[in-house]
Amino acid sequence: MPVSTKPSFWWRHAVIYQIYPRSFADANGDGIGDLPGIATHLPYLVKLGVDAIWLSPCFRSPQIDAGYDVSDYRDIDPIFGTRADFEHLISEAHGAGLRVIADLVPNHTSDQHPWFQQALLSPPGSPERARYIFRDGKGKHGELPPNNWKSVFGGIAWTKEPERAGSASRQWYLHLFDSRQPDLNWDNPEVRAEFEDILRFWLDRGVDGFRIDVAHGLIKGKGLPDFQVRATMVGDHDDKTPSDAPMWDREGIHDIYRSWRSILNTYPDERMLVAEAWVKPQERLARYVRSDEMHQAFNFDYLLTLWNAQAYRDVIDTSIQAMNAVGAPATWVMSNHDTVRHVTCLGLSIPGTRPPGIGENDEQPDEELGLRRARAAIFMTLGLPGSVTLYQGEELGLPEHTTMEARFRQDPAFFRTEGKEIGRDGCRIPFPWKADAPALGFNTTGKTWLPQPKSYKRYAVDQEEKNSDSTLALYRQLLKIRKERGLGDGALQWHESVENVLDFENGSVRVVINFGTEEVPLPQGTIMASSLDLDQTKILPGNSAVWLENVD
Ligand code: GLC
Ligand code: CA
Repeated sequence: MPVSTKPSFWWRHAVIYQIYPRSFADANGDGIGDLPGIATHLPYLVKLGVDAIWLSPCFRSPQIDAGYDVSDYRDIDPIFGTRADFEHLISEAHGAGLRVIADLVPNHTSDQHPWFQQALLSPPGSPERARYIFRDGKGKHGELPPNNWKSVFGGIAWTKEPERAGSASRQWYLHLFDSRQPDLNWDNPEVRAEFEDILRFWLDRGVDGFRIDVAHGLIKGKGLPDFQVRATMVGDHDDKTPSDAPMWDREGIHDIYRSWRSILNTYPDERMLVAEAWVKPQERLARYVRSDEMHQAFNFDYLLTLWNAQAYRDVIDTSIQAMNAVGAPATWVMSNHDTVRHVTCLGLSIPGTRPPGIGENDEQPDEELGLRRARAAIFMTLGLPGSVTLYQGEELGLPEHTTMEARFRQDPAFFRTEGKEIGRDGCRIPFPWKADAPALGFNTTGKTWLPQPKSYKRYAVDQEEKNSDSTLALYRQLLKIRKERGLGDGALQWHESVENVLDFENGSVRVVINFGTEEVPLPQGTIMASSLDLDQTKILPGNSAVWLENVD
């Protein structure tokens, strides 16, 4: 990155592209994507027009939760490459004008992390155990878990430690996720010091920022009191979960981010922190991005809103207001590696439903309708002021793999719920680069860690590049206009509109989206871009959108 003394506040308007390293590009042909694969495809991202990439974790890990179970925070997992590959990727990205955001997982480590291994070998009350959350069980013989918390991935949130030589008693340890992801004890200064050091380690190596995994979970309520409701992530967004859940969004969390911000502030070139915090309402989320904490937070309220004009208008207003109040940018995201791809959700009979995965026996989406709506939705998302995160493949209109056979599934949530939840594998499928190559160009051997559905062939990059009406061409066009017109730094102003339609302006661009099925008249203004081929008509069909030259 060019060193500049004047801040650009790039993170206020950046378009960030989430790469899921396991599934982007596989250079050595073992079936799993890797860092050299990413490095060779940077020109694709430059051409797409994004500002930054966020890499889901590629640190050393047993890969029980696809890398969200880290055993060494300062090393790259050999399946992804080496530290030299990582440093090479950073320098190539910087050379191409792209920033690089790493994914930091501070809530829990892998059970293979040396700290946890040491804890298991050490007696209750030892400093080794104090890095995690060990407790004696309840019941006469400690046979019951210390409290009733449930894991986000299903089942209880406690596991009894294995038998230990020379000890009769066995304690339990807390894991909000899989049993192989023990939660760290953030009340322990040693844990804090370690993560501050990890931040510096990667900042020194040129990382431009961190996405903070489970940012709302680090501090647990005093005494770990019982709590009936299952600690879900996506699900806790419904209003059923009281905001006093003792495992989420505790006040003490903010001190941690203040200390991290002060570390980032000592580095040049505006490094940034983005929170993955599933908290409600937006005012609570805004607390993570106060001026001395993180820079931005994913807007999951927006991600969970689907295909309803009024609901979108509400969530857009609420988000902008809440973030403005603390001086943070609003952010917009529609898909990620944890949720069903939005193009697929938009093709379901109730498009507002976000199922925890879709399997062979579930309702199958109307792919054409979903794509038509998704193409319209991106006009809204990229037309809004603030920062946008795209999930790899959405620029191709890539659907969820909804017919994967159970034998291929790898998500721990599938296993911990005994298949009741299909899980997240369907949104993590290896990327289609070339229609007529092995593994659709993901590698040259044809091996893939998850199977690609047949339909991915028609979404392959080489096919879409040939077609000026493709979703890829559309994303490139909108990203270019967004940059040229400075929409990310703009301001939104609503125009009144008929039912099922949203109409707003952002600087020189007017955005009109028709969520209904009936056509509606378009306001004045030349069409700059449209989700359907409209040829300067004055009519906007159902499930479509335009950007107009704003004539007001
Ligand atoms: C976050 C990640 C998810 C992971 C979980 C546990 O929600 O996005 O993929 O399984 O944290 O680390
Ligand atoms: Ca590989």
